[in-house]
Amino acid sequence: MSNTSRVVSDELMQVQREYCDKVRAIYENKLDRQPMAFTQTFGCQQNEADTELIRGMLAMMGFGFCDSIDEADIVIVNTCAIRDHAEQRVYGNVGELSHAKKNNPELITVLCGCMAQQKHVAERIKNSYPYVDIVFGTHALCRFPENLHSRIARGKRVFDLEGDEKGCIIENIEPVRKQGHRAWLSIMYGCNNFCSYCVVPYVRGRERSRDPEVIIREFKKLLEQGYKDITLLGQNVNSYGNDLEGVCDFPELLERINAIPGDFRVRFMTSHPKDATKRLFDTMARCEKVCNSIHLPVQCGNDRVLKEMNRRYTGEQYLELVDYARSVMPDLTITSDIIVGFPGETNEEFQDTIKMLERVRFDSLFTFIFSPRKGTKAWDMPDVLTKEEKQRNFEELLEVQNRISREINDTYVGKRLRVLVGEEENDRSYNNEYTKQSRTEGFKLVYLRGAEGLEGQYADIVIEKSSTWALFGSVVK
Ligand code: 5AD
Ligand code: SF4
Repeated sequence: MSNTSRVVSDELMQVQREYCDKVRAIYENKLDRQPMAFTQTFGCQQNEADTELIRGMLAMMGFGFCDSIDEADIVIVNTCAIRDHAEQRVYGNVGELSHAKKNNPELITVLCGCMAQQKHVAERIKNSYPYVDIVFGTHALCRFPENLHSRIARGKRVFDLEGDEKGCIIENIEPVRKQGHRAWLSIMYGCNNFCSYCVVPYVRGRERSRDPEVIIREFKKLLEQGYKDITLLGQNVNSYGNDLEGVCDFPELLERINAIPGDFRVRFMTSHPKDATKRLFDTMARCEKVCNSIHLPVQCGNDRVLKEMNRRYTGEQYLELVDYARSVMPDLTITSDIIVGFPGETNEEFQDTIKMLERVRFDSLFTFIFSPRKGTKAWDMPDVLTKEEKQRNFEELLEVQNRISREINDTYVGKRLRVLVGEEENDRSYNNEYTKQSRTEGFKLVYLRGAEGLEGQYADIVIEKSSTWALFGSVVK
């Protein structure tokens, strides 16, 4: 298989395992208790999954995990670069590390992830944040044990942005996942699409798919561990397998996962509309364990803007896809991402996005105001709208979508559904008789009454009330 050369080889991981043992020995000598790690993650699910791998490596080095920086011997901040807002939050947070370091000079501070992969960020950290000990990018994830050892043994700060942007795949590390019933499983890494606004292809490298056999094995293990709602992750899952020489593509992977025995649900994100096929939707419709739910980012409704964004579909093509998907799955839930204020977008063009919302009627949206990212094509494209106009459009978008979400949720009242009951409690003060959180097949949030003791189980429920953001129901005995 062509991608075997990109899988971090056993030899390489062997080297890292040796560094794990060395780090473990250093801490055993230094402390008469288990060393503790505190991890913090910004950004998307892919980043959460990377943190789970980092936690896996920390466990191999003997670390336990704590919930506050005060108890930690090492703190890891896994960063996001998708919008400026995300980066500013990280800088704010990194500032706080200086206090923690004053309280505990032995504390090791680590910055990693998408933001850290960018040269200008690493330079800024090097020059202005002297209390950050280790900076490593997404391509250097697999060398974390080596870099940590280097910092402890040599006492020098470590900056590691090295790595082929073709990237690599790390196998044979057991991620330390969050407890609960939902888990993420990365099936591929990177992105080849180069949408003109997006930094992801620059910080996460090219697409590379994990071996289907490895994915199936990991999936079965998750089921054995009690996970029941598993999300397959990738920047663009629809191009899964393009680098596997015909061994397996995404619909086939879904088919193979669906055939695994057990009572579970599988979902996936994210799908790029240009690669979503009728075959994908037919497969979803046929496979009963694959949720009838899709996150299909449209970004905007105007063809000129879509072209400038390099999305490679038109509004019409998007609608055709949605219509087909609904024809084979009438109960399909669809969510999307929208960017408002892309450079050059006019108020008239923005109205095409509003038309798109009214036509598709998404269940819910993730909405963003365009944020210029250094190195991308849209970085210095000129604007025609002012900041205030963009803000006004953004607010109109939210208003329209909130109404649609509410109308859709209202149609659920009286319906009987099957949900997976979660551990989480309702943290809102109103409607507090509905204490338990749960999720429908379409990933709608339902607060439940009468569900105590059913955590981690499927329950048949009836919906009693609705709001813009959630449904409220009770368990049917
Ligand atoms: N500005 C605003 N939103 C962005 N996204 C990606 N890059 C940018 C940017 N530069 C949004 C897109 C994408 C989601 C993950 O983040 O909508 O689908
Ligand atoms: Fe960014 Fe586009 Fe890749 Fe999504 S598909 S990560 S928006 S470049």
